[in-house]
Amino acid sequence: MAIKKNDSMSKIISGFSKLTKQEKINWLSKNYFSSQPEIIQTLQQYWNSDKKLQQLHDDFIENTVSNFYLPYGVAPNFVINENHYVIPMVVEESSVVAAASKVAKFWSKRGGFKAEVISTTKIGQVHFMFEGNKADLTSYFHQQKENLYKATSSITKNMEKRGGGILDIELIDKTDKLANYYQLHATFETKDSMGANFINSCLEAIAKAFRKDDIDIVMSILSNYVPQCLVRAEVSCKIDELGGENPREFAQKFKQAVQIAEIEPYRAVTHNKGIMNGIDAVVLATGNDFRAVEAGAHAYAAKSGSYKSLTHCEIENDVFRFWIEVPLALGTVGGLTALHPMAKLSLDMLQKPSARELMQIIATAGLAQNFAALKALTTSGIQEGHMKMHLMNILNQLNATNEEKEIVVAYFKDKTVTHSAVVDQFNTLKR
Ligand code: MEV
Repeated sequence: MAIKKNDSMSKIISGFSKLTKQEKINWLSKNYFSSQPEIIQTLQQYWNSDKKLQQLHDDFIENTVSNFYLPYGVAPNFVINENHYVIPMVVEESSVVAAASKVAKFWSKRGGFKAEVISTTKIGQVHFMFEGNKADLTSYFHQQKENLYKATSSITKNMEKRGGGILDIELIDKTDKLANYYQLHATFETKDSMGANFINSCLEAIAKAFRKDDIDIVMSILSNYVPQCLVRAEVSCKIDELGGENPREFAQKFKQAVQIAEIEPYRAVTHNKGIMNGIDAVVLATGNDFRAVEAGAHAYAAKSGSYKSLTHCEIENDVFRFWIEVPLALGTVGGLTALHPMAKLSLDMLQKPSARELMQIIATAGLAQNFAALKALTTSGIQEGHMKMHLMNILNQLNATNEEKEIVVAYFKDKTVTHSAVVDQFNTLKR
């Protein structure tokens, strides 16, 4: 709800974060929901009755007033590198888990998914301005380089024990793009942790050790562009094994659909959105940072200068091959992964994967989702399956009883679901 200009000053509050949860809700209710007192009950309805568990969630962020539920579903029958998985997915879109499950079963009978991690390094940068002579800066950098590593030793000690740490620090001249702009460009290996805090702490220590009068540090931060933290997943089979009435025509159309997404950005964005339906759902379920993964994936899709599909398809010697290559910066230790009970449960369900294994699982979920979307789009169209799954949402919006739901679902078993058709059918029950 927007604040009217005249009211706006009275709604500016200081010290909000210091109020108790109930005081925050009362303030919200008074200032933004004066005609809807029931919002207090709605917010409270989603509190967990286990006080300790609720406190844990309250403490994740500032100003928690309630919890926001999303469905937690599971997609069984994934075979990845010959291991069997049931994949947890957190997502609100009706058809995503159903599509993943269907595709998992389909490929389980055709050799399953093959996945491999290509590389796992991450990048962080200290951005700074320097007006002097480049040769002086270069020699200062080489003199200091050892000290830069030393400055991070207390931070890197444990990571090094696990086989990670800072792999390299380079001085990069960016003055052709922005006057006086240079970077310390550092490469990291963070093993099973996503590594954001580790990288940022190292960078801040590096910046401090590098600082001097003529070096003006602008900022120190990791990059969510991780083209060297890359994973590939694929499926393949003989064309005839694809099944259906005309597998050759299906394979051809499928490949064309991928090719279109490789050259047409309008289509590529939607195509990749479908991939992210699968990826984000597992990223969320495992307590990973879906915004980081989204940003990195889309940047990778645009790495050639134009935005392209993250998946690719080829048909050679009668073999259909479909694969994804996507950067995924993930953790299976640290962050929310151990703290959020459901994230921990998800990782247990996935048999406590390493970050490398989780990269393979999540890339597979993205590929499976894209396979489902392209299969539907190039055959029956997307709406048939989508609306069938959405039917229950429409009935819930209409406050249908269980009995009414059963009747309407049975009616639409062999008919096209549209919003208006469902409303009409529902209304006939009420007559
Ligand atoms: C919908 O969430 C995702 C799709 O639009 C993806 C696609 O078009 O490939 C079905």
